[in-house]
Amino acid sequence: MKRLILFSVMLFLLLCACRSTEPAVAETPNPMIVVGFSQVGAESDWRVANSESMKNTFCEENGYELIFSDARQKQENQFEAIRNFIQQEVDYIVLAPVQEDGWQSVLEEARDAGIPVILVDRMVTVEDDSLYTSWIGSDFEKQADAAMKWLEEELRDEQRDADSIKILHLQGTIGSTAQILRTRSLEAAAAEHPNWSIVAQLQGEFTQAKAYEIAGAYLRENQDLNVVYCENDNMAFGVMQALDDVGMTYGAGGDVIIISFDAARTALERCLSGEINLCVECNPLQGPQVEQLIAQLEAGQIPPKASYVPEAMFTPESLTQTILDGRSY
Ligand code: AHR
Repeated sequence: MKRLILFSVMLFLLLCACRSTEPAVAETPNPMIVVGFSQVGAESDWRVANSESMKNTFCEENGYELIFSDARQKQENQFEAIRNFIQQEVDYIVLAPVQEDGWQSVLEEARDAGIPVILVDRMVTVEDDSLYTSWIGSDFEKQADAAMKWLEEELRDEQRDADSIKILHLQGTIGSTAQILRTRSLEAAAAEHPNWSIVAQLQGEFTQAKAYEIAGAYLRENQDLNVVYCENDNMAFGVMQALDDVGMTYGAGGDVIIISFDAARTALERCLSGEINLCVECNPLQGPQVEQLIAQLEAGQIPPKASYVPEAMFTPESLTQTILDGRSY
C-alpha cells in the first residue's frame, strides 16, 4: 500500500512537471499592416498637420508599419514612391495626389499587384474608378461656395452690394482638386455678380513665399482692390505681408477683405485678431478615417467610395479663444 501511495505521488509530481515544462504556446502577434503613404510635400501648415495625422495613426502601437514618402510637390516623385511600395509588397497604398491628371498607368500597376489604393485629400481623374478603393477628403466645392455666400452677405451687411468689387485671386497648385474647385466657385460667383471682377489670378502654389513674391510684384503696380481670395492660409500670410509692404490695410475694418482656406492654428489666431475676415476650414486630420476604412477592408467589408471630413467656417465674430485652444493643428 505504501508503495502504491508513493508511486501515485511520484506520478502526480511527474505530470505536474511535464505540464510546467511544456513549452508555452507563444501567442502569435497580429502581423503588422504595412501602409505606404505618398504625401504631396510640406508646402503648408495644412499639409504638415495632415502628415502628422497619418504618422500618429499608422504607428507601431496601433499595429502598423508606415512607409512615408514626401514627393516635394512633384508627381514623378509620387510615381516612384508608388512603384517602390509595390516592390516592397505593402498591404495598402495611401495616396495624396498632387494633381488630378496622369495617374492611370501607375494605378493600374498597383491594381495588377493586388494592392488596394486609398486616396486622401485630392482626387484623381481616371477612366476606371475601380483603380482606387476609396477616397477621403474635403468637400472643396462646398467650402468655396460657402465662402462666396459669406462674401455676398458681408457686402450686403456693409451696404456695398451694389459697389464695384475687385477681387485678387491667389491660386494653389494648378490642377489639384483644391485649386480646381475653389477657383470654379469663385469664377461662378463672379459671373453671377456683374459688379464683382477678378482683377488677377496669381499662381501661389499654396506657399507663403511664392504668394508673397507674386502678390508683392502685383501690388507694387496695382492697389485698386477690395477682396483677396486665397486658396489657402499660407498664401494669405504671404499676401498680408505684401499688403503690409505697400501700406494697405486688411481684415476687419481694413481696406481689403481677406478670405482664406484651411483654418489652421496660425490663421485662426490671425482671424481672432481681426486680420483675416473669413477662415474656411479644410480638415487635415484624416488619419483616423483612413484607419477605419482599412479596418473595414480587413474585415472583408466594402467601404464607401467617397467620404468627407467634417468642416466649419470662422470669422472674427464667430471665433472664440476656446475654439482656438481646442485646435490641435
Ligand atoms: O489639398 C488641400 C490643400 O493643399 C490645402 O488647402 C492646402 O493648404 C494644401 O497645401
